[in-house]
Amino acid sequence: MEYTTLGRTGLKVSVAGLGCGGFSRLGLGTGKSEADAIGIIRAALDLGVNLFDTAAAYGTENVLGKALQGVKREQVVICTKAPFGVSNPDATPEKAVASLDRSLRELGTDYIDVYQLHGVSPRGYQHAFEAIAPALLREKEKGKFRHLGITETAPGDPAHEMIRRASQDGIWDVVMVAFHMMHQNARRAVFPLTREHRVGTLLMFAVRNIFSRPERLAATVRELADAGELPLEIADDPDPLGFLVHEGGASSIVDAAYRFVRHEPGVDVVLFGTGDIGHLHTNIDSLLKPPLPEADRARLAGVFGRLVGVGLDAPHLTPLSGRAKSD
Ligand SMILES: NC(=O)c1ccc[n+]([C@@H]2O[C@H](COP(=O)([O-])OP(=O)(O)OC[C@H]3O[C@@H](n4cnc5c(N)ncnc54)[C@H](OP(=O)(O)O)[C@@H]3O)[C@@H](O)[C@H]2O)c1
Repeated sequence: MEYTTLGRTGLKVSVAGLGCGGFSRLGLGTGKSEADAIGIIRAALDLGVNLFDTAAAYGTENVLGKALQGVKREQVVICTKAPFGVSNPDATPEKAVASLDRSLRELGTDYIDVYQLHGVSPRGYQHAFEAIAPALLREKEKGKFRHLGITETAPGDPAHEMIRRASQDGIWDVVMVAFHMMHQNARRAVFPLTREHRVGTLLMFAVRNIFSRPERLAATVRELADAGELPLEIADDPDPLGFLVHEGGASSIVDAAYRFVRHEPGVDVVLFGTGDIGHLHTNIDSLLKPPLPEADRARLAGVFGRLVGVGLDAPHLTPLSGRAKSD
């Protein structure tokens, strides 16, 4: 494993972080057992992963707590989240504090390393900043968590408006941002700001459905070409990202997707979600490989670099295309 510093938190974190949400929720979202989920977490620990991201909304805090029993608390970085935004538009300071206390109990720990507000929209940000954050910072003073963070609602905020504001407001030490091969706008919109303010970055959406399901990629590319956002000949290619897979390049589209985000300047930790032990191993291998060849990165930037908001569908949405339809 390789380690880095999570912005101004100073936390030493693995460059690969295990996401306990997403479509898989450690496998609990795809029919696997709690014992399987614990096996995924323990295997990640054995491979040197020390950062784990969960949320009250995922239903995986308890299983993460169980898996970490017996591990020295200071050896892991636990990130979790208070419901906000879409799932709880009336988020109040009292509810956020109650959720923090519940998360501490579910995780079976005395403190959380990074406590985040979950999926905050640009519309909800002022309320998060003025009402919720001060209440949470009072709980931080009591030692319940170490650093405050905030995560964007990627489908509802493809231009990263919320994170751009949060990065400059001084109270959020960590932000979680969406960035991938067909949604590259954080390169200009977010990372210069987070680097300037030394805000730690957790990267989400590296693969999701769009790069793990060939039929989803093909449908999305067809839709984008029909809309004039990609050249038509790409849509006729049965393997539109196949150029990435070659001797000296990526071994698969998923390998390319993780390597693409891992080496982007400004990305601290790449979160990946899986309920599959084989994927756990190959994803960590990918994240530890060198950057994609320069020519492939240039082609990705040239062909797909202007796309925004592609492949950000939430787990409850099942459109054929990867284009996000709503929050
Ligand atoms: N707003 C927010 O706060 C927010 C939103 C989204 C995500 N997140 C966080 O970010 C984390 C990462 O997001 P994510 O879970 O969507 O991660 P991701 O790594 O982009 O995508 C995971 C999906 O890809 C599949 N996959 C993973 N590795 C694969 C491989 N080697 N080959 C084929 N398919 C593979 C997984 O299925 P398998 O189980 O089959 O591997 C899963 O369906 C989440 O767990 C969560 O902690 C936060």
